[in-house]
Amino acid sequence: MLKFSDDKLKEVKKIIDRYPQGKQKSALIPLLHMAQSEFGGWLSPESMDYVASLLSIDPIEVYEVATFYSMYNLQPVGKHIFEVCQTGPCMLNGSDNIINYIKTKLNIGVGETTEDGLFTLKTVECLGACGYAPMMQLGDHYREHLTKEKVDAIIEECRGK
Ligand code: FES
Repeated sequence: MLKFSDDKLKEVKKIIDRYPQGKQKSALIPLLHMAQSEFGGWLSPESMDYVASLLSIDPIEVYEVATFYSMYNLQPVGKHIFEVCQTGPCMLNGSDNIINYIKTKLNIGVGETTEDGLFTLKTVECLGACGYAPMMQLGDHYREHLTKEKVDAIIEECRGK
């Protein structure tokens, strides 16, 4: 059965205590982030149920949030996740070409992971960096003004990590 470590449970309590009594559901988003990072980079039904139990809410309330935001992974993912923006400004600046290039280069489709478990490709909606289009999120950082050459360099950089 999944369970946070004692240290993480202390963190959970701190987060829940930020909110008024009875409003513990407000801690859902940070707890889902924690569950995703602690339990293998994705949210299994079991981990979502665990979060629901920590917050004393119904599992469906957790599923509703987890399935709405692209930052949560609902299936196992690779070590490096390319989250390429495909909204208007990025599209007008060539995000389709970038997405297709990544697909060909890594031999995967959107939502898929390479066989070696290194890369997952996702498409996402506007990440608020339209002035740097086309762009993607990789871990905690944005990669901007993407070109095929930049994608090549990013892939090599990831392979070296
Ligand atoms: S449209 Fe891509 S970051 Fe806004």
